[in-house]
Amino acid sequence: MNDPLLSWRKEFPALDKTVYLISHSLGAMPRRTRDQLSEYADTWSTRSIRAWEEGWWEMPIAVGNLIAKIVGAGEGEVTMHPNVSVCQSLIASCFDWRGERNKIVSEGLNFPSNLYIHRRLESQGARVVTIASDDGITVPLDKMLAAIDRETLLVSVSHVIFKSAYIQDLRAITERAHEMGALVVADIYQSAGTIPLNVRDLGVDFATGGSVKWLCGGPGAGYLYVRRDLWPSLEPRLTGWMAHRNPFDFDGGPIEFADNAYRFLHGTPNIPGFYAAQSGYEIINEVGVENIRVKSMRQTSLLVDLVANAGYRINSPRDPVQRGGTVTVDVPNGYEITQELLRRDFLVDYRPGAGIRIAPHFYTKDEELQLVVEEIQSLAPAVAAR
Ligand SMILES: Cc1ncc(COP(=O)(O)O)c(C=O)c1O
Repeated sequence: MNDPLLSWRKEFPALDKTVYLISHSLGAMPRRTRDQLSEYADTWSTRSIRAWEEGWWEMPIAVGNLIAKIVGAGEGEVTMHPNVSVCQSLIASCFDWRGERNKIVSEGLNFPSNLYIHRRLESQGARVVTIASDDGITVPLDKMLAAIDRETLLVSVSHVIFKSAYIQDLRAITERAHEMGALVVADIYQSAGTIPLNVRDLGVDFATGGSVKWLCGGPGAGYLYVRRDLWPSLEPRLTGWMAHRNPFDFDGGPIEFADNAYRFLHGTPNIPGFYAAQSGYEIINEVGVENIRVKSMRQTSLLVDLVANAGYRINSPRDPVQRGGTVTVDVPNGYEITQELLRRDFLVDYRPGAGIRIAPHFYTKDEELQLVVEEIQSLAPAVAAR
């Protein structure tokens, strides 16, 4: 079949050498990224301290603007950070957890970092309510909505569940939270770049994600969106000199926060990580998330059929509308099979209690999906016999 997105394959050198089905965990490196990293080295070497004024200082916002286009935020509304864990901690540090409104509502299938951060807030007075999954795949929306009440301060949820790719109804969750006077933090790591989304339209108060996965940006570049009208009321305890309105006064404090999104920065940004990440964001913008989603729904459905025909259990939603970009396959000895697949240049991963996660992206060929399922089938008896 004619698939115009396959013309992007030449921009990703790793695709020639591997069956690349790991973009939910580590998106392929774009060819252009090598040039970006050389540019970083040249700039550091030749421009030295002048590089800050010539672009580096602006990078946390300039690079964030590329993310903003992908997730529907406005210019200047997304700041760049090292990773999601820092962004989540930064958000939590904006609030006083000692009052009557001190509940934080989340799902048991949220990413562990987020759950760890919630639990650490208990020592500051927070009450943590975690909605359990009935099937290890989905999160019961009715229970989530019912848990959000007038004592809830934050609702912190993943848009797409990392183990199963189940898509949560962010709109319904946000509407309920706002009715109750609570704020919403959406972890969009597993949706941005594979599912069209618009943080402004959804009305979420905070969104955070990173670049390692669907955005093909590599490690070291997490991002934070904060609803603009909340800015004046938010004074993070996780902060630093770059958040000051006049950082070069080097004033001993207390801090006076910048009026713009710099108020959410802290220390020296990870400039090389931002150089590396840019090319992935540019490509995702060029390909278009709508186009990526159309192909992803078709290919994950194809994969679901292939896996079901092979007789394996699927730990992801069957309905493509409820499913993000990954299909989780529950095969006996999944961990050992994954190790064998990696040895044979089939790039996938394994998550305990879920299975082998397999993800096509816009650069994936249909036949690669067939190949990976055949490889699992051929490896399974030998691994079982060990
Ligand atoms: C949904 C989700 N949130 C957070 C993370 C981790 O983010 P970080 O390592 O940037 O803190 C991951 C994946 O590693 C993830 O899938």
